[in-house]
Amino acid sequence: MRRCAPGEMADSAAIPPPSVRLTLSPSRYAPSGEIITTGYRPTREERLLTAARNEMLTRVGPGTPMGELLRRHWQPIAGASELDGNPIKTVRLMGEDLVLYRDRGGRYGLIDRHCPHRRADMAYGWVEDTGIRCSYHGWLVDQAGHCLEQPYEDTTSPKPSKSGCETKAYPVKECAGLLFAYLGPLPAPELPVWEPFTWRNGFREIVLADVPCNWFQCQENSIDPVHFEWMHDNWGARIRGADANVAPKHLKLKFEAFDHGFVYKRVREGQSEEDRYWTVGRVALWPNGFYLGSHFEWRVPVDDENTLSVAWFFMRVPKGREPYVQERVPTWVSPLKDETGRFITSHVINQDIVAWAGQGRIADRTKEHLRSSDIGITMMRGRFFEELDAMAAGKEPGGIIRSANEAQCIALPNMARELNTDGLTLADFDKDPILRQRLKEFRHHYGQPPEVRRAFVEAMGISG
Ligand code: FES
Ligand SMILES: [Fe+2]
Repeated sequence: MRRCAPGEMADSAAIPPPSVRLTLSPSRYAPSGEIITTGYRPTREERLLTAARNEMLTRVGPGTPMGELLRRHWQPIAGASELDGNPIKTVRLMGEDLVLYRDRGGRYGLIDRHCPHRRADMAYGWVEDTGIRCSYHGWLVDQAGHCLEQPYEDTTSPKPSKSGCETKAYPVKECAGLLFAYLGPLPAPELPVWEPFTWRNGFREIVLADVPCNWFQCQENSIDPVHFEWMHDNWGARIRGADANVAPKHLKLKFEAFDHGFVYKRVREGQSEEDRYWTVGRVALWPNGFYLGSHFEWRVPVDDENTLSVAWFFMRVPKGREPYVQERVPTWVSPLKDETGRFITSHVINQDIVAWAGQGRIADRTKEHLRSSDIGITMMRGRFFEELDAMAAGKEPGGIIRSANEAQCIALPNMARELNTDGLTLADFDKDPILRQRLKEFRHHYGQPPEVRRAFVEAMGISG
């Protein structure tokens, strides 16, 4: 099992240069590598998604086309530190009820929640040196789904084999504090180790949120630059008491396809084409992630109407605080609603979640009116439809890595790479309004526990 323990992180010197190979998909969404900008005219079919095509994009249960596509990719499902207290956690993934555990030998398992004997809940069992034991009649099951012991049978009529009593089991790998699961056909592809997972000298944390809507409306947000202006800037300012729209307007958008998703670029008032928002951009990570330079977000389907938001954050310690080795990556759950039942709107991803959940449990895309700001959305949908067609024809979907060499450190476009690989002095942090704010408070998700804040403050060498 691959473990990217903190002590094993690669040096920034060992990381490949930040050049990123942009292989443009040979499709109408990125014809011949040409950039599609605001002059793009979606077809009528793209503008008006039929109910049937909406179902194709959104349904994720076993046997559904999209469910099968997403099962071909490793999915982050938990933080490893969640199992430090209770080593067993119930997990619902793409409509399947499962139990995640770490046995006393350090092996991770993800198995059917129901015991192969008479279907008791394995979440109420216990872990042993190898595997997990059901509390009803004591059957022992390992991470491959093999039944190792059946105590009464083993006492009265022992047989060397328990074959035929296997349970459903999926592989799990740990990387950078996250646990990834693979629910697709074997052999499993390589787990992509994104470059940020190899960075050293940083404080990492994992934040989970239970989002009450379908995964795809969350993922469409990963390729929606204009919402930053309105949702986070203008609405954010209104929440804080502003009485006018103050955010710089978006003037120009650009979307590019590459192996691992799409890059979107923007020019806003006060910016130019020299700005990194235009020259580098941000990544809608294929198939259900978002990468913003110092953090990732994934929208992992729980079932058709619920999504687990998994966010992984990295903050390089200031120069002079190295070497910093984080022994344990904390994981916490962000609450979404206040005591009145209203969504919390004070933090960036909480604001996003208001939009996602507000679109309905499964957004009715037959009632939309897409315009040029939504070009990225139509490109993303189009690529999913192309890949679903390819899978129906027996082909492997895009973005799957079979080479261990290629998977071990994958660079992505990053507007602030040096910040994370080389670091800044504390004085430099103070000169940058966003970084200065980042040291003061965690603005992404509501509800950071005090002990996580204390560990962050300690790592950064700042006052609380
Ligand atoms: S139901 Fe689990 S051992 Fe009998
Ligand atoms: Fe957002």
